[in-house]
Amino acid sequence: MGHDLVIVANRLPVDRVNDERGRSTWRRSPGGLVSAIEPVMRAHDGVWIGWPGGTSQRLKPLTIDGLHLVPLSMSEEEIEEHYEGFSNGTLWPLYHDVVAKPEFHREWWDTYVKVNRRFAERAAELAAEGATVWVHDYQLQLVPQMLRDLRPDLRIGFYLHIPFPPAELFQQLPWRRQILEGLLGADLVGFQLPGAAQNFIRLVRQRVGHKTHRDLVYLPDGRTVRAAAYPISIDAAGFEDLARDAAVEERARGIREALGDPRKIFLGIDRLDYTKGIHARLRAFGELIRDGELSVEDAVFVQVAVPSRERVEHYRNLRDDIELLVGRINGDLGRIGRPAISYLHTSYPREEMAALYRAADVMVVTPYRDGMNLVAKEYVACRVDDDGALVLSEFAGAAEELRQAWLVNPYDMNGMKAALLEAYEAEPKELSRRMKAMRKQIAQHDVKAWADSFMTELEDEAHHGHTKTVRAVDAG
Ligand code: G6P
Repeated sequence: MGHDLVIVANRLPVDRVNDERGRSTWRRSPGGLVSAIEPVMRAHDGVWIGWPGGTSQRLKPLTIDGLHLVPLSMSEEEIEEHYEGFSNGTLWPLYHDVVAKPEFHREWWDTYVKVNRRFAERAAELAAEGATVWVHDYQLQLVPQMLRDLRPDLRIGFYLHIPFPPAELFQQLPWRRQILEGLLGADLVGFQLPGAAQNFIRLVRQRVGHKTHRDLVYLPDGRTVRAAAYPISIDAAGFEDLARDAAVEERARGIREALGDPRKIFLGIDRLDYTKGIHARLRAFGELIRDGELSVEDAVFVQVAVPSRERVEHYRNLRDDIELLVGRINGDLGRIGRPAISYLHTSYPREEMAALYRAADVMVVTPYRDGMNLVAKEYVACRVDDDGALVLSEFAGAAEELRQAWLVNPYDMNGMKAALLEAYEAEPKELSRRMKAMRKQIAQHDVKAWADSFMTELEDEAHHGHTKTVRAVDAG
C-alpha cells in the first residue's frame, strides 16, 4: 500500500552522522527547507524521500519522531557530481545572481540526470494511486517530468526554495531547456516571489515555445501548468512559545552577561554561504568602530556561521576570507575581554537560536540574493516584547513582507553603515512600531498558511487544470 503524500527533497530532515565515540546517530539537517516541510509532513502523515548525508549504504526506511523517512543513498561520485557539482557548483550560483561564477561540466549534468531519475523511481514506488507528490528545490528539477512519465495518475507539485533567475542569466545554462521541461512535469510550480514565477513563464514561452497566459502554461497535450508565488514562512507560534520559555529567557540573559553586558548586541546567523553577505556586514560594523561611531565597550557583533558544503571550493575560500577579516577587525579594534566580533563556526539547536534572538538588539541579515531568509522571520517571531531592530537586505525574499525593517543594499557600504547606526540608535517607540507591524505579518503568514495554500492550489489545479484550459482557450 502506498502513501497519499510523498515529499521528495534532496535532504532528509535528519543526517546520518558519527558522534564523538564513532557511533552513528541521526542529527537534524541544516537549512530552511527542513524546518518548513516538517509541519506539513506531520499534518498529512506523509513519507519523505531524501539523502541522509554521507555515503552510508542500504539504509532502511525508518520513523523518527513520528516522521516516516526513506533514505536514498548516494555514492561518493554522486555526492561530488550531483550535490557538490551540478547542484551547488552550477545551479546555486547561477540562481543567486551569479554572485559566484557557475561552472558548467557535462559529467556533472549526467550525474544530475541519473540522481533525479533515482528519486523519481523511488517516489513512483511509494505513491498510492492518485497520490500527491511534492518535489522540492533546485537539486531535483527533473523529477516532476520523470515522475509523470512513470505515473500519470499522480498530482505533482514542485516548489523552488531559492530564487529563479531572470532569462538573461538562466540562458547561460547549456541544459536550460531540459530543466524547464523537467519542471513542466508538475501541475503546480511554486516560487518564493512573483518575479521568479514571471521569469519562469517568460523562459518557457521563449525557450520551449509553449503558449502562456499570466500564470498558466498551456501544453500541447491539453494539460496546464500553473506557476505562482507562495512565500515560505516559519512556525511563528512555535518560535514565540520557545522565546517565552523561562529557560530560554534565562539563557538569553546568560548570553548578554557572557558578552560583558554591552549596551547593544548585533547578531548575524547564517549558513556559511557566499550569498549571505557576511563579509560585507562585518566590514561595515568594523568601519563603524574604526570611525568612532560605535565602541567595543558599547557594542559587540555576534556572528554565527553554520558550516556548509565544506568541500566546495567557493565555500572553503569564503571561510578563509571571513576568518581573516574577523581576525583583522578583532586584532585592530578589540580590547582585552572586548572583541569587536564574537565569531562562532558551528550550528545550534532551536533553543539556543531562540536565546540568541532574544539577546540581540539588532539582527543583521544582508544577503546579496536570498530566496526568502527564514532567520529574519525567526528573529521577528522571537521578539515577544515588540523590541529589537531588523536590518534586512532588499535582495532577500523576506524584504517583500518585512517592510518595516531597515532595508539595505548590501553592495552599498555607506548605506549599510548608516542603517546599522540608525537601528542601533533607534528610540524604543520607533522600534516597537516597526516590530509590531512585522510580527503581525509573520503571525498571519506562517508556514502552515504557506503549505495549506500550496496544497489547496495543487489539488485544485490537478482536478480542474484541463477544464480551465478549455475555458481559457474558448475565451480567446
Ligand atoms: C537551502 C536550500 C536547501 C538546502 C539547505 C542546506 O535552504 O534551499 O535545499 O537543503 O540550503 O544546504 P545543504 O547543501 O546542506 O543541503
